[in-house]
Amino acid sequence: MSGPKDTSDSTVAGATAAVLDRQSADAPLVRCEGVGRTYGTGPLAVVAAYDITCEVPRSARIALTGPSGSGKSTLLHMLAGLEPPTVGRLSWPGLGGHPIDRPGRTGVIFQGPSLLPALSVIENVTLPLLLGDVEDALARSRAKDALGRVGLADLSAALPEQLSGGQAQRVAVARVLASAPALILADEPTGQLDHVAASAVIDLLLLASAELDAALVVATHDPLIAERLTEQWRMNDGTLRNQAARDTLDGGRA
Ligand SMILES: Nc1ncnc2c1ncn2[C@@H]1O[C@H](COP(=O)(O)OP(=O)(O)O)[C@@H](O)[C@H]1O
Ligand SMILES: [Mg+2]
Repeated sequence: MSGPKDTSDSTVAGATAAVLDRQSADAPLVRCEGVGRTYGTGPLAVVAAYDITCEVPRSARIALTGPSGSGKSTLLHMLAGLEPPTVGRLSWPGLGGHPIDRPGRTGVIFQGPSLLPALSVIENVTLPLLLGDVEDALARSRAKDALGRVGLADLSAALPEQLSGGQAQRVAVARVLASAPALILADEPTGQLDHVAASAVIDLLLLASAELDAALVVATHDPLIAERLTEQWRMNDGTLRNQAARDTLDGGRA
């Protein structure tokens, strides 16, 4: 197919990548060991996350639930490597990230509006790719493809202010899709939406994670959204009661 000259380097790189892929295939994408985060110091200190131990496996479809202020965003930001824990150990064994580095291949949908108002829809989707050194034409074609997959190809040239809340969140999903992450972290992606629009966004997130073979963690305080995911992790006052903890408790009772 291709000439002998252009294959050697890419073959070696491909083989190395395949070996690394196999090695890390079963590794959890994120591991938290006794992780916590405190904002501020002294009498004003707020313990937003406390002694959290958990793993996000490759196949994760996790709803991170809990009331407002329970620490969902704090945990999600730590899982993304955006905020360091103030105590404990966080690592990304399945993402190639070192304990103190940001992990690669993570896509984040932030709580609240996240599109840049001065940029068109397609520019919003393209921007992170360009910042990640993807070449112009390729970035644009990946953005176009991602917008098509969330059903918004026709709104490529629109400005964020022309979109409904549901459309804006679908653009945020397209932005994640375009960068093909192995881990998708969405922080209350449906918080401002009515049920129909919220359901459409969750459908797309589930579809995106299936297509990309990516793990999905969605923070939400909406039980109808939470039940669309296969596992529920509940936060309360900064502590996490996850499936592993429940299994241990159930095992103890059985
Ligand atoms: N940057 C910050 N500075 C100080 N306190 C914060 C900061 N971010 C969050 N907190 C506090 O940490 C706690 C957990 O917040 P958060 O993780 O945003 O919860 P949730 O996402 O569940 O609403 C809350 O008490 C909140 O006020
Ligand atoms: Mg939050």
